[in-house]
Amino acid sequence: MKDKTRLVAAGRPHHRPAHPVNTPVERASTYLFPSYDDYLEGAKAITYGRLGTPTHRALEDAVTALEGGYETRLAPSGLQACNAAILAFVAAGDHILMTDAAYDPTRKFCEKFLKRFGVETTFYDPVAGKDDIAALMRPNTKLIFAESPGSLTFEVQDLPALAQAAQEARAKLIVDNTWGAGYFYKPIVLGADVSIQAGTKYLAGHADCLIGTITSADEQTAQKIYYALLQLGSNVSADDAFMTLRGMRTLSTRLDRHQDNANELVKWLGKRSELARILHPAVKTCPGHALWKRDFTGASGLFGAVLKPAPLPALKAFFNAFKLFGIGFSWGGFESLCLHVRPEQYRTATSWSEEGAVLRFHAGLEDIDDLKADLDRAFAAMASALK
Ligand SMILES: Cc1ncc(COP(=O)(O)O)c(C=O)c1O
Repeated sequence: MKDKTRLVAAGRPHHRPAHPVNTPVERASTYLFPSYDDYLEGAKAITYGRLGTPTHRALEDAVTALEGGYETRLAPSGLQACNAAILAFVAAGDHILMTDAAYDPTRKFCEKFLKRFGVETTFYDPVAGKDDIAALMRPNTKLIFAESPGSLTFEVQDLPALAQAAQEARAKLIVDNTWGAGYFYKPIVLGADVSIQAGTKYLAGHADCLIGTITSADEQTAQKIYYALLQLGSNVSADDAFMTLRGMRTLSTRLDRHQDNANELVKWLGKRSELARILHPAVKTCPGHALWKRDFTGASGLFGAVLKPAPLPALKAFFNAFKLFGIGFSWGGFESLCLHVRPEQYRTATSWSEEGAVLRFHAGLEDIDDLKADLDRAFAAMASALK
C-alpha cells in the first residue's frame, strides 16, 4: 500500500453488518464489564478512558501505518510527546545528546527540568556526522535526540549516521518528525527507535487542536513509552483524537499543496533584493539539500528566509502590511503564517551569526498569486518605512 492509500484506509472501523466510514468519537472515562470473567480478561481490552478508547486506537493505528513503526501512543501535545519519550529512557546519572536546533521548549525540558533530576544534556551541531557524534557519546549516554530539519533554521540531519552511532552505543535515537509528518520523512525506516510528531501541526492540520504522537520501532521501545505516559497520567481527549484522524484523511492532498506553494514562494523570494538567503532544504543552494534529497520524498510548507539587515521600523511595517500571512506561533494549519524568529537566543553548541532578521514562513493553501501579492505589499511597506 502507498501512503496516499494508507492515509485513507488506516484506522477505519470494520465491524459488521454496517459501520460509519470514520471511527466515531467515543467519550468515556468508565467502561463497564458485562461479567466478572470479562473484567478478569479486561487487561487486554479497552478498560478505562485514560488508557485509550477505540477513537484513540484508530488514530494510533493510522499513525503507525504512516510512520512504518510497531506501535503509536498519543500525548496531549507535541511537547509532551517529546518530553515523555525522553523520560522513558533516562534515569539519574544518565546523559542525553540533543541537537542544537531542537524546538526550544524540548531543549529547556532537558536543560532545566531533567537537570534537577541528575540527567545531563550535551547539545550537538545539527550537521554533526557519525564520528562527531561518536566523540560526544559517553558510557552513560542513553539517547540521541534529533529534529530534522530544525524548525527554525532548517538544517537536515544525517539520520542513518546518527542511528548507527546510537546502535553502537546501545542508546536510543528519538526524532522529532513534525516537519516531514511521516509523509515526506520516515525516521523509523532510516533506523530511528522513536518518531514523534506534534500532530498539532500537519496531522490535525486545521490550527484548532493540540496533540502529540509517539511511534516506536519495536515492542521493547513501545513498552517503555507506554509506561512513561501511564505513569505521567497522560490523557488525550477523544474529540482531539477524532479531529486529528479526520485531518489525516486529507494529509496527502494538503501536504502536496503546502509543498507546491512553499516551492513557488521560495522561487519568488529568491529574486527579492531584500533577502540575504533562503533556508529551505529543497533549495539546491541550501546546506542540507543533498541529505534531504537522499532521505526525504518531499518538503512541507515551513521554511525560513534571512532578511538583509533592516531597522526595526522597517520590520514592523513589513509585518503590519500583511493581509493574508498571519503573525502566529505554530504552523501546519491550512493558513499562511510569517514569524520573526531568533535562533541566536537558543543555541549553545553552535552560533547563529546572520545579521539580518530570520523570517519563518508557513505556506498555507491559499492561491499562490494572492500570497505573492501579500508579500509584495509587505516589501513595499518596508521600502516606504526606509525612505
Ligand atoms: C518541531 C516542533 N516540535 C514540537 C512542537 C510542540 O508541539 P505542541 O505545540 O503541540 O506542544 C512544536 C510546536 O511548535 C514544534 O514546532
